[in-house]
Amino acid sequence: MKTINVVNGPQNVSAIVQGCMRMAPLSIDEAAKVIRNAYELGVTFFDHATCYTNGECEQRFGDAFPKTGIKRGDIILQSKVGLCFERNEFDWTKENILESVDDSLRRLGTDYLDVVLLHRPDLIFEPEEVAEAFQKLSDSGKVRHFGVSNVMPLQLELLKKYVKQPLVFNQLQFSIEQSQLIDQPLYMNNKTTEFSINRDGDILDYCRLHDITIQAWSPLQHGFFKGTFVDNPDFPELNKALGEVAEREGVSKTAIAIAWILRHPAQMQAIAGTMNPDHLRDICDASKVKLSHHDWYQLYLAAGKYLP
Ligand SMILES: NC(=O)c1ccc[n+]([C@@H]2O[C@H](COP(=O)([O-])OP(=O)(O)OC[C@H]3O[C@@H](n4cnc5c(N)ncnc54)[C@H](OP(=O)(O)O)[C@@H]3O)[C@@H](O)[C@H]2O)c1
Repeated sequence: MKTINVVNGPQNVSAIVQGCMRMAPLSIDEAAKVIRNAYELGVTFFDHATCYTNGECEQRFGDAFPKTGIKRGDIILQSKVGLCFERNEFDWTKENILESVDDSLRRLGTDYLDVVLLHRPDLIFEPEEVAEAFQKLSDSGKVRHFGVSNVMPLQLELLKKYVKQPLVFNQLQFSIEQSQLIDQPLYMNNKTTEFSINRDGDILDYCRLHDITIQAWSPLQHGFFKGTFVDNPDFPELNKALGEVAEREGVSKTAIAIAWILRHPAQMQAIAGTMNPDHLRDICDASKVKLSHHDWYQLYLAAGKYLP
């Protein structure tokens, strides 16, 4: 498994992360199998959020983990706070951050989280409150590292004015089909295409400049939770290109789609959401593949981009 050293953050972490958003429907035994399978494949990083099925995903993980035989210290547990579906709001208040972390710890059956991320922005957040909450979580040993998800550069700057702890991750949507994270600079200053619209304040380059590790969420999905593009007849050219490289490398198309993300020099992690052990095994083969510069562009173009 490819590993990454996060500047000011955890070291030697797996480049592929097991996302746990789809864990709630599993039995405890099935969840234990998913966790154990990931671990055996070298995936030691697990991503949660307090909002995933209203805490049920964390609960299932917490109930299942003792059955895996894995030591707590051998994995990285990450959760995200601030997205409150039940209240129809985003909430980065000190009170909500502290309560949410306590809820996650209880459900996950652990006394610390390796990483806590602020989920999508609370539009009326007060950075001083976030700073107080993070200080308390850090001082108490409940949280070791901090970061954000779906957050733009100036919001990060505003947080950093007050927050003392380094913000070391930004979890962002990125797949070969949903590649808006990297598209805009290619078409900059071009009035004839939607690709030229800057939608995220150059968050990719900001993260690289500030040593923030990007975690790519939904790396196999098209659109916004529309299902996977792999083997999807709506993406014939992309599947043809993925298939050709996959055959040459002796791996699956999903492995190539993930290898395309890992090939980016930003040293991103890819968060895979499958609960199917065979699918995760296929995905992890990405770690064995080193795509050439040319491969990377051919795949990018096959996903519907063109060179200006
Ligand atoms: N920060 C955020 O805002 C945010 C938002 C969404 C998600 N996330 C995180 O990102 C993780 C991944 O999200 P995701 O589940 O949407 O991403 P994903 O891994 O891109 O998509 C998962 C889907 O792909 C399918 N799939 C995987 N391998 C396949 C294969 N070989 N053949 C056919 N289908 C395959 C899975 O089906 P099977 O189950 O059948 O394999 C599942 O339906 C989540 O668990 C969560 O941790 C974060």
